[in-house]
Amino acid sequence: MNIAKPFLLMATILLVSSCNSVQKHTDATVSLKNAYKDNFYIGAALDTNQIKETDTMVASLIAKEFNSITPENCMKSMFLHPEKDKFDFKMADKFIALGEKHNMFIHGHTLIWHSQLAPWFTQIKDSVTMSAALNNHITTIVKNYKGRIDSWDVVNEALNEDGTLRKTVFLDTYGKDYLTLAFKLAAKADPKVDLYYNDYNLCNAKKRKGAVALVKNLQKNGAKIDGVGEQGHWNLITPSLDEIEQTILDFSALGVKVSFTELDISVLPNPWDVVGADVNQKSEASEKMNPYPKSLPDSIQTQLAERYEAIFKLFLKHQDKIDRITLWGVNDGQSWLNDWPIKGRSNYPLLFDREFKAKKAYNNIMNLKEIKR
Ligand code: G3I
Repeated sequence: MNIAKPFLLMATILLVSSCNSVQKHTDATVSLKNAYKDNFYIGAALDTNQIKETDTMVASLIAKEFNSITPENCMKSMFLHPEKDKFDFKMADKFIALGEKHNMFIHGHTLIWHSQLAPWFTQIKDSVTMSAALNNHITTIVKNYKGRIDSWDVVNEALNEDGTLRKTVFLDTYGKDYLTLAFKLAAKADPKVDLYYNDYNLCNAKKRKGAVALVKNLQKNGAKIDGVGEQGHWNLITPSLDEIEQTILDFSALGVKVSFTELDISVLPNPWDVVGADVNQKSEASEKMNPYPKSLPDSIQTQLAERYEAIFKLFLKHQDKIDRITLWGVNDGQSWLNDWPIKGRSNYPLLFDREFKAKKAYNNIMNLKEIKR
């Protein structure tokens, strides 16, 4: 029997199929941003090293997969405006330059936030000084990047869980109209940039009601607001898909864009069953609370992938109302969730693992668009 022919045929099949799979994995067009290019922007929050492009592999992954970026920290007031009369645009300039290099949708985060707040802001005691400070802060920063930033979080996390306004130095000194003032100042400094209100837990009905009232109040006061950002710091179970859907519907009914601005899905137990992102809540580490220190079991990996898939399916259903989906980080190693609410745990909330390899969740999201890797 002549075995040469079948052997040759088998070898050819193997060679062709292995070439195909290599091609698929290296094909620069197979990416999240391309898969979803007709639906919404796909973004990532970048840390300082990513902005500085210290690792070329990571830099090319970011450019390949994402068409929008948000600064994870460097545009917060403590970094951008550390002293009353001193702005520091160095790192933010690098961030903008990176987005421009790759022709990305650039989101600014965040003008007014009670956390990571420049200390000098907290010394303000009266409304006249606060008004002047807000004017200088917002006008200087927004004008500095006029035409180069596509959207801004003007105010971040102004609400308590019950939907009332959070007690901050802004509220204490200026009163509730600090929101209107902030949005008006931002619009004046750059009339074309999209202006967002951004918060976590907006899927919680009470807080969402507060956010709806907040947006309506801005609109009534003649302030321009273009979008609401639901951060999306979620877990494997909550919020429910119904709650997420209701959030999309409630905000888009106000005539504003809806974006999911800080998406990540925690797989770890929560010490107080709290949801959201209140950075003041911290707890102690323990083995029970850090169940996957080395790697994520397959069953949980699958659960995470299915959760991401269901959420993206919902996003696709409402793509006409959604502008942008931004992941809060590029890979699991970078995530703030490794240190919150308990320091030093191993969490797995994103689409790329600690080695920057695409996870099952990534594949499930790509499969929704019928793009196989
Ligand atoms: O700047 C110091 C640095 O000097 C020091 O060496 C280092 C040592 O740990 O700490 C650095 O500060 C850290 C800062 O990020 C900048 O890297 C803080 O410890 C750390 O707590 C801080 O965490 C950030 C957190 O906001 C602060 O509230 C996270 O990286 C960032 O992901 C997180 O992002 C927020 C959004 O802006 C708003 N929504 C919630 C979201 C998650 O909390």
